[in-house]
Amino acid sequence: HPGAPTAAPLMGFTGVAAQTSPTFDQVVVADGYTAQPFFSWGDAVLDNAPAWLDDASQDWQVQLLQAGDNHDGMHFFPFEEAPNEHGLLVLNHEYINPTLHPDGLTFAQLEDGRRQRPIDQVRKEQAAHGVSVLEIRRNAEGQWQRVAGSRLHRRISAMTPMAISGPLAGDLRMRTISDPSGTEVLGTLNNCSMGVTPWGTYLTCEENFHNYFVNRNAADHAARPTHQRYGIGQGQSSAYYAWESVDPRFDATPDPTQNHLGHVNEPNRFGWVVEIDPFDPDSKPIKRTAMGRLGRECSVVSLGDDGRMAVYSGDDARGEYVWKFVPDGRHDASNPSASRQLLDSGTLYAARFDENGTGQWLPLIWGEHGLTDDNGFADQQAVLLNARGAADILGATPMDRPEWVAVHPVSREVYITLTNNRDRGSRFPLDAANPRANNQHGQIIRWREANTDPTATTFEWDVFLLAGDQPGATDADGQPLLDNLIGNINGDIFSSPDGLAFDGAGRLWIQTDSDEEAAHTVNTGCNQLLCADPQTKEVRRFLVGPRGGEITGITWTPDYRTLWINVQHPGISYPASDGHSRPRSTTVVITHDQGQVIGS
Ligand code: FEO
Ligand code: CA
Ligand code: CA
Ligand code: CA
Repeated sequence: HPGAPTAAPLMGFTGVAAQTSPTFDQVVVADGYTAQPFFSWGDAVLDNAPAWLDDASQDWQVQLLQAGDNHDGMHFFPFEEAPNEHGLLVLNHEYINPTLHPDGLTFAQLEDGRRQRPIDQVRKEQAAHGVSVLEIRRNAEGQWQRVAGSRLHRRISAMTPMAISGPLAGDLRMRTISDPSGTEVLGTLNNCSMGVTPWGTYLTCEENFHNYFVNRNAADHAARPTHQRYGIGQGQSSAYYAWESVDPRFDATPDPTQNHLGHVNEPNRFGWVVEIDPFDPDSKPIKRTAMGRLGRECSVVSLGDDGRMAVYSGDDARGEYVWKFVPDGRHDASNPSASRQLLDSGTLYAARFDENGTGQWLPLIWGEHGLTDDNGFADQQAVLLNARGAADILGATPMDRPEWVAVHPVSREVYITLTNNRDRGSRFPLDAANPRANNQHGQIIRWREANTDPTATTFEWDVFLLAGDQPGATDADGQPLLDNLIGNINGDIFSSPDGLAFDGAGRLWIQTDSDEEAAHTVNTGCNQLLCADPQTKEVRRFLVGPRGGEITGITWTPDYRTLWINVQHPGISYPASDGHSRPRSTTVVITHDQGQVIGS
């Protein structure tokens, strides 16, 4: 196996410098490597897609044939015949940027305080959300290209019909006037990171779905934990795009004159893991309700020796929890199709990180440990719909915005990024896993399940690193930094870790999502891809991205000689990098000039 651990040093490249220039508009990668734009917002997905136009004048029907916006989590599914040369690239389109339209998003302010949107813009925004599936192949010259004429290319959007499965399928609380059966929902929203199953499907995760809805009835909102605890909009309009002004299913205000209260339950149909079979373009994506409803960042599988598994998730909001779902069944590698319903039953746990370096997985089981009628949980379905509220009662540890999870390929040690939390030390008390007040830079922590069993209910944990500046660093005026900005990185500095993944040799790859305009990033600069050695904790900067853009999404060919990452919402003109073209979220392909394993 080309990725097997060796005695050689894990990292063989020279680190690149941080980029603090306000006009930096490129991707720069370590010497000896080439990084090329590969797949940008508006590029063809389906064969009949017209070429993208820089004036953003194309309509929603065209957008449905092209790459969506804000590329995020991503995975390469190799084809068995030529796994390092041919496969499916599957990626999320998390949300949209103002650059989607010629002159940004148009909002009319109505007299009652509501915001009104043009229907054509809203349709294009919905079409630019979701997932792309792209068949790609490396040609004789070593260049990766989209395969023309493939039936496997697919765009999934905020309008694509999806099935609801698991304990909440057909439940009263999932029914709306548009779907009285409670079994089919249109689309997926705010797909941030993802996961991959051992049976070859893609798990896309619905993160900040709350910002797409409004419940104008303040009393109803306050009394409805599925709205209140998840931050569904309360006021005149939804927080992001006011789609409800032209698409009533995003208006979650109860209307007693309507069957099933109109669309009041529509927000209950988001916040799930969505399982997609990328190899079957006719398959219906499935929302897996047994896994619980979160502001879910990711769903990362750790497979045990006996076929039992854990699926780990971060819930990315300040003070939210770390999660794991343990299916009841086991995966049989000799019969993968039998695993297709594994995610429909199991146990959901939230993590408690104790001060002494041990931890507990707290099960969300109705009727146990206070998850009862007295506390507002009528049944297990209520627990799954308001998993956050259930974990509050169980005493899970509020974390500094849990983002991506990565599992070491040999030891099964689990790492998670906690990106930042300005409310730590005020709204949320300090603790050993979240040790910095006004935490601007974030940290990475890790844990070891008892007996390295993914299904264990206890673990040991430690802080892998605190991100931020080096001791003695100064601000833009040469003044010493406050203590909360000093980290303990052994090597190259960064802020706000988000994306995280191991390669097959056990290199830990870290991606950042920090704000370059903020004072605390004066030294860390533009967002980055870094590589870390889990044993020595050395961190080395492999790539820096353009100003304004986040670095996210990471996947390789099975030989780890081709790497793809995403540049999300670049701020200036990337990938044209000419200072005036419309910037586009872009998948970047990275190879070594002599074909070496990336990072070696
Ligand atoms: Fe979409 Fe938590 O990042
Ligand atoms: Ca993220
Ligand atoms: Ca983030
Ligand atoms: Ca983002």
